[in-house]
Amino acid sequence: MTTSPCILPQRVKVVNVASVPQRSPFRYPGGKTWLVPYVRRWLSSLGRRPKEFVEPFAGGGIVGLTVAAEDLADHVVIGELDHGVAAVWHTMLSGDAEWLVARILRFGITRANVVRTLSTQARTRRELAFQTLLRNRVQRGGIMAPGASLVKNGENGRGVSSRWYADTLAKRIRAIARLGDRIEFREGDGFDLLRRFRHRKTVSFFIDPPYTSGGKRAGRRLYDHNQVDHDRLFNTMAKAPGSVMMTYDDTVEIRRLADQHAFQIEKVPMKNTHHAVVYELVVSNVGSCLEPALPVAREESAYT
Ligand SMILES: C[S@@+](CC[C@H](N)C(=O)[O-])C[C@H]1O[C@@H](n2cnc3c(N)ncnc32)[C@H](O)[C@@H]1O
Repeated sequence: MTTSPCILPQRVKVVNVASVPQRSPFRYPGGKTWLVPYVRRWLSSLGRRPKEFVEPFAGGGIVGLTVAAEDLADHVVIGELDHGVAAVWHTMLSGDAEWLVARILRFGITRANVVRTLSTQARTRRELAFQTLLRNRVQRGGIMAPGASLVKNGENGRGVSSRWYADTLAKRIRAIARLGDRIEFREGDGFDLLRRFRHRKTVSFFIDPPYTSGGKRAGRRLYDHNQVDHDRLFNTMAKAPGSVMMTYDDTVEIRRLADQHAFQIEKVPMKNTHHAVVYELVVSNVGSCLEPALPVAREESAYT
């Protein structure tokens, strides 16, 4: 079994996500805000600045956004298969950000308005973007997969408005729009992005695929697109000359794949939505210790 000398869970504290700038407008189940200090550390340990930073399973894209905002790579390429999530990225990055901001700021957040808006067929990409963000903010746990219900009481009994921070969303969307010349967004299968970049030495890949096969998340439908061929993914990444970081639940299957392809694994603690400390696996092809680059604290606040 491949193990790292850095697996010292008793000494690694849970990252305080309140110390990490929140840049994504999404609340993402499985979001990686807690990993940001480790990503900074990983990139600075490489000894050369990546020409491209590729995140093929972007979701809320907190890692790619951080890399672009903190200027940690020349160019950031993010990909996502979900059409609604992709509409949000396209809208923010290709000229319609102000439309989206205005739509958010003038929306009257009542249960009736939410139900009416979400039951209307979106006719344009930007309206689909608005609906997707709204759904993400008003459905329980930010879950966007079909069948997820609307929040009932929410924070302080505020119901559907409890996670709808219009001004904050406006600020984040405008900040993302300003990064438009550094971020390229591609809608489609993440494997296509990997194919495009996998031969380049100058790339850093951050890979956070949906993982539902085995382990504690088995059977949970957090995303519409939740099936990925992990054998194929490990196979592809094992041949990449660039640097690779992947994150996964800690399962026997993933440990086996990492071992089979000579990847290094490290266990990193985070707090789940129930505030219990759980460990995730960081799988990489670089031999650096992943101590976070930021001071760490004991607590995590709820993700926003
Ligand atoms: C674990 S989430 C990523 C969360 C993200 N790291 C964040 O911090 O918000 C995985 C994402 O991959 C997307 N996805 C699933 N299959 C995909 C595929 N074949 N190609 C690209 N994206 C895919 C899902 O829709 C989901 O948004």
